[in-house]
Amino acid sequence: MPYDTLLFDVRDGIAFVTINRPDKLNALNDRVIDELAAAAERIAVESDIKGAIITGAGQKAFVAGADIAELSQQGPFDGKARALRGQSVLRRLETCGKPVLAAVNGFALGGGCELAMACHLRVASENAKFGQPEVKLGIAPGYGGTQRLPRLVGKGIALQLILTGATIDAQEAYRIGLVNKVVPAASLLAETEALLRGILSMGPLAVRLALEAVERGLDMSLDEGLLLEANHFGLLAATRDMKEGLTAFLAKRTPTFEGR
Ligand code: COA
Repeated sequence: MPYDTLLFDVRDGIAFVTINRPDKLNALNDRVIDELAAAAERIAVESDIKGAIITGAGQKAFVAGADIAELSQQGPFDGKARALRGQSVLRRLETCGKPVLAAVNGFALGGGCELAMACHLRVASENAKFGQPEVKLGIAPGYGGTQRLPRLVGKGIALQLILTGATIDAQEAYRIGLVNKVVPAASLLAETEALLRGILSMGPLAVRLALEAVERGLDMSLDEGLLLEANHFGLLAATRDMKEGLTAFLAKRTPTFEGR
């Protein structure tokens, strides 16, 4: 699929995905969502892609939300369809089996905050701003904000953000656990890439199953989640990577993982 609204660039195993509508602050219109779906699929299935970084074009915005011009035209059924479509695209990213990091370079509002939350880790530049301002427009979050925000920061703070539509800065987002790290704007991509490359140097099957246990386990009972974890733990014992990781530790050398 040729991209009109995304830049998609694979460098040394990392897919760099840039939402590229800077004149509209990278707002998520239907075209962006379709292209993000194609990008998520590539990240999931292409074996030369080991992880991904999502960011926004320009200095000002990561993504300033769903495209309000398109939302203004919707009726109840296409509104629901739009929410389901956006949710499934973000869920595909979240469950793609590879680490996906958001490099939040400016406004991450509404669908932008929701996209960042569907990523596994969030690195924010000092000038990033976060919020779920939908209620100011008479709508409510539709791309997972009501579900992922309370899971990340707890119900009380999530409700405060969702019900007031307040915008918070990067330091406050860090304080409440919405972002993992705040860095100077000039080093955002380099720091995010360094974090991801560190993860990619770990056992890839272990990373994949740890991601899956957290993503799936959070929606299970404790006993079901613990069983999933134990199954993964056992499964990893069948891999060459586990043998290599443990042997290398005992031999005081750096492991070389092969992903099998
Ligand atoms: N959807 C569609 N277009 C958007 C947009 C969105 N979510 N957010 C910004 N834009 C467009 C603006 O309409 C403007 O387009 P124009 O130049 O053709 O008029 C352009 O992006 C620049 O935005 P502007 O509002 O002029 O920038 P600003 O610096 O004054 O304000 C924001 C920045 C982020 C505070 C402001 O754009 C805003 O509040 N955006 C909407 C945020 C939101 O409610 N998101 C949730 C949507 S569900």
